[in-house]
Amino acid sequence: MPTISYKMGPLKGKIFAPGDKSISHRSLILGAMAKGKTNITGLLEGADIMATAEAMNKLGARVERIKKGEWIIKGCGEAGLISPSEPIDCGNAGTGVRLLMGAISGYKISATFKGDTSLSSRPMARVLNPLEQMGIEYNCDEGETLPATIISSGNLKSIDYVSPHASAQVKSAILLAGINTSGVTSITEHTLSRDHSENMLKAFGATINIETQGQGQKVSIKGPVTLKGTDISIPGDPSSAAFPIIAAIITPGSDILVQNVMMNPTRIGLFTTLTEMGAYLRADNYRTSGGEIIADIHVKYSQLNGVIVPEERAPSMIDEYPILAVAAAYAKGTTVMRGIAEMRVKESDRIKATFELLIKNGVDVKEHSDGLSIKGGSVTGGATVLTHHDHRIAMSALILGINAENPITIDDSSMIATSFPTFFELMAEIGAKIEVTK
Ligand code: S3P
Repeated sequence: MPTISYKMGPLKGKIFAPGDKSISHRSLILGAMAKGKTNITGLLEGADIMATAEAMNKLGARVERIKKGEWIIKGCGEAGLISPSEPIDCGNAGTGVRLLMGAISGYKISATFKGDTSLSSRPMARVLNPLEQMGIEYNCDEGETLPATIISSGNLKSIDYVSPHASAQVKSAILLAGINTSGVTSITEHTLSRDHSENMLKAFGATINIETQGQGQKVSIKGPVTLKGTDISIPGDPSSAAFPIIAAIITPGSDILVQNVMMNPTRIGLFTTLTEMGAYLRADNYRTSGGEIIADIHVKYSQLNGVIVPEERAPSMIDEYPILAVAAAYAKGTTVMRGIAEMRVKESDRIKATFELLIKNGVDVKEHSDGLSIKGGSVTGGATVLTHHDHRIAMSALILGINAENPITIDDSSMIATSFPTFFELMAEIGAKIEVTK
């Protein structure tokens, strides 16, 4: 469905950030592996997460929705996950499929994974290779893409893996496989990636050891362990909160409060960068919920200045570069974002898609092999942008349109529901004008 965003007056109001996507996936997977019941509140009911919920049912757990955001899982415990009778469709979700591949590997199982066109073009070798070293067998397309079938005897050996990627998906897949492996399974990363799996595994009773190594870490899990069901409250997603936050920062006169935003240090690189650019962004009312720090974020319209984003900050804001590029388009001076070649293998080639979004709408932008340089100023808008079935490109384009001289159209907005099903509702609540055309 083509969708248009128009220039509007100031954005005002108080909204709640939707549940965190990373933590929602993990809560369903660990709950399904655990013994006993897991009660979840605040679950993100986006399409990516619903695909994981469905997958856990196919793998033998009982996942049930009680009411909005409230779910109960009866986990498989010692009986273990079972081979599904049909392929598991992970839809658009890279996190879902990569974590599931790790989770099932520790059981005697055979399972086929598939996904939509975007997911079927994304690399899976980064997870399949270490899992193969642990003892699984797999078949997939030549390019190591989906569909892929994993066959495991359930007798994995523990490994001490040094990851070439600072990727929480790779780290998590190995740790999840390590749950049912005898001995200590370790993964070393040169730069810190998000640590939600470590935090949640501890909450489910696993022994996790973390050793700092320079800028990175070695994370180990001692297996085998029977996870125990627990209660999980999902905090608000900083990656989703980024869209209304930047909408307010670029729209003159705006003043909004986004409540319940997770402030885990491995996730808030964008907020640090916006503050360095001169944004009025204040986090207040800090508290903890479900083992994570959360806060309310107050933002106001601000004249931003371009900055050079430190490359080592990338893992803590890897999903936020497209929307940061929108902020940079309205900033004074040049913003340089390099060291983010990983963006090319997300739901779309996000470097290329962001470049196209900006150049088509009159922004001075240069594409590098590993990033972008954006010279801010006026945004003429007026173009129709191709989203390549990527939710973060779609939302970034619509936010760019909120202060552009002419409305910006996107080819389709349906995939926004994968991560932020309440996007349109919340943006309308603070006064944005975004119209989905029939
Ligand atoms: C995620 C990790 C990141 C991120 C993705 C969610 C996770 O991917 O881009 O949206 O929940 O572990 P990588 O681990 O590939 O960097």
